[in-house]
Amino acid sequence: MDCTFGGGGHSTAILEKMSAKARPDDPVGRGKLVAFDQDADAKKNLPDDERIIFVPQNFRHLQRFLRLNSIKAVDGIMADLGVSSHQFDEAGRGFSIRYNAELDMRMDQRQVLTAFEVVNTYTEQRLHKLFEQYGEVTNAKTLARKIVEVRSSTSLRTIDGFKNAVREIVKGNPNKYFAQVFQALRIEVNDELGALKDMLLQIPSLLKPGGRAAIITFHSLEDRLVKNFFRRGSFDEPEENPFINTETANELHVITKKPVVPTEKEMKENSRSRSAKLRVAEKREMI
Ligand SMILES: C[S@@+](CC[C@H](N)C(=O)[O-])C[C@H]1O[C@@H](n2cnc3c(N)ncnc32)[C@H](O)[C@@H]1O
Repeated sequence: MDCTFGGGGHSTAILEKMSAKARPDDPVGRGKLVAFDQDADAKKNLPDDERIIFVPQNFRHLQRFLRLNSIKAVDGIMADLGVSSHQFDEAGRGFSIRYNAELDMRMDQRQVLTAFEVVNTYTEQRLHKLFEQYGEVTNAKTLARKIVEVRSSTSLRTIDGFKNAVREIVKGNPNKYFAQVFQALRIEVNDELGALKDMLLQIPSLLKPGGRAAIITFHSLEDRLVKNFFRRGSFDEPEENPFINTETANELHVITKKPVVPTEKEMKENSRSRSAKLRVAEKREMI
């Protein structure tokens, strides 16, 4: 299962390795790849291959949509989080500070909440917290205050309008600053941490014994969720829950003690891989 189909790079690689022939223990007759993406545009990248089932939904509903396809368990689960290059480079989607567009940032365009709603309706305190936690914006409080001040007279509708309205409080390199601000808005609009938690919680019951989950994150908060869940079967930090017996509670076994990160060469060839971290866990065989 590929939870984040995007441009289909990972799915294509999985299909290349997957059996095309019948297996005696496989009543369907051959391997199947279930690919999720909540962005309907991703469908345009589907290969012409009967083994793939595309589900245009949020991966937080994995189990429900697998059941609809009569699939109870899978051999592998892959997720490559965040936005795709396609989404990022498409000006109208509002993900990139390089273009002017409406403040949108929805991966799923059926969704109601947009970046416009967040910027124009959230309280100052809520804005402060999200810029601080999701964007690690150095002056998150000042930024939140500025937004609330400006929006009382103007509605912040576009990317350029937003950037101009807060320009005087920008700290350091404006591109870096706005990249952090936009990252925070994107994480909030798409409830990226909530969706990741919901998906992680379904992994133990969906994987077959010996099956593996591989997740690539691009943000320290995401990586912490994956690391803790793979190690302990919970999102708590270790010291917060010293009484949990992790050995018996956790159905997963960590394969990557340290996250796999890109090599210098890969970072040079693909600068967007810079902050990627891959973690892999395996479902324990039943005793
Ligand atoms: C980094 S891209 C994946 C790129 C892909 N691995 C490839 O090889 O082209 C992430 C994709 O996952 C989708 N996505 C992100 N969060 C999602 C979620 N909660 N549910 C479903 N799709 C999601 C995005 O719409 C985007 O297309």
